[in-house]
Amino acid sequence: TGFITLDPGYKNSGSCTSEITFLDGELGILRYRGYSIEDLAEQASFPEVSYLLIFGELPTAQQLAQFDADIKKHTLVNEEMKNIIDGFPKTAHPMGVLSALTSALTAFNPKSVNVENEKEMYDAVCKTIAKFLVIATWTYRKTMGYPLNYYDNTIGYVENFMQLMFKLPTGPYAANPIVVNALDKLFILHGDHEQNCSTSTVRMVGSSHAGLFASISAGVSALWGPLHGGANQAVLEMLEEINKDGGDTDKFMAKAKDKNDPFRLMGFGHRVYKNFDPRARIIKKAADEVLNTLGVDDPILAIAKKLEAAALEDEYFKSRSLYPNVDFYSGIIYRALGIPTDMFTVMFAIGRLPGWIAQWKEMRENKEPIGRPRQIYTGHPLREFKSNK
Ligand code: CMC
Repeated sequence: TGFITLDPGYKNSGSCTSEITFLDGELGILRYRGYSIEDLAEQASFPEVSYLLIFGELPTAQQLAQFDADIKKHTLVNEEMKNIIDGFPKTAHPMGVLSALTSALTAFNPKSVNVENEKEMYDAVCKTIAKFLVIATWTYRKTMGYPLNYYDNTIGYVENFMQLMFKLPTGPYAANPIVVNALDKLFILHGDHEQNCSTSTVRMVGSSHAGLFASISAGVSALWGPLHGGANQAVLEMLEEINKDGGDTDKFMAKAKDKNDPFRLMGFGHRVYKNFDPRARIIKKAADEVLNTLGVDDPILAIAKKLEAAALEDEYFKSRSLYPNVDFYSGIIYRALGIPTDMFTVMFAIGRLPGWIAQWKEMRENKEPIGRPRQIYTGHPLREFKSNK
């Protein structure tokens, strides 16, 4: 079988070549298709960045308008999908429901995409972007017991997110532009992050030529875990726990450093960023702006600031290069914007969707072989069968 290298967690193994995202963990650099994340977050819109990630170039004004119009052609979700949502208990976690609904889209769109056909691929991209937003917000409406909303084709994608989530049949709804602007930025910052756990999952599942919806549904499941996208929910829960406990951040710092205690400081550390997370820098600034403009005064924020300052000065954290990551601040903004805690990871999924699509498309276009890692067997040698009955 030849020589097998063992690299648990793929800490030093590349799984593919990619032209989508450049990341330098030492220098804290993140670029999509060569454009710096700072420029994109400041100057571009989320649909524009989605187009860039998926198709490789920034769209012209006409291409962007067409993209928007083509997404709008697919914003209706089959009414029978509602029967599936009805089957879930109200208490179901939105990420579990989102994964299931994304997978269910395969049943309503059974024809697999021919990646070599540009038009078919383009339609599949628009369809996925349109329907995923709608079902993502439906997971929240389900938990609230509210009627499900429909996409409003007269307004933009991010405004639609707010409307789909919060519009009630009892009155008009207009999204706060400050909130829309902050969300646009947050979605951009989550757009892609090379071969992270969920993206690798999407590529791995897709490498067996499973369809786009099936692969993305697997990505949603991978994202859900607290060591990955689920960290943003875990951060808020941790801050709430510290607050309830009396706000003693030193006590929780000590717990995080105790090797006999499984507790970790959520929102700190990153597999590849060892000096700082460039997304966290942009988000921290945005968080300050949003909180000031909205006039939010929240004891949780004071705890977050205290924890951040303590960790940045702490030898344990410094020696292991553990800095606040994107999830530390994103949860704080989502909370200020009125997004419920168990929807935080769904927000991450909406932002990461264009990255998953871009990576799936690239993997198929590059005709990558099926993903099939090897292992080193450490079990029993051959044993003689003798029944234990
Ligand atoms: N709190 C306390 N100790 C930590 C933490 C933490 N948050 N993160 C890492 N460590 C320690 C760890 O115990 C180990 O110590 P030692 O060398 O003494 O055994 C050392 O730092 C290296 O950690 P690791 O687990 O080997 O590092 P990793 O690259 O496998 O894990 C990580 C990276 C992000 C999973 C981890 O830092 C972590 O669990 N962080 C908390 C969860 C979190 O915020 N996740 C979001 C990541 S960013 C968004 C995303 O990509 O999804």
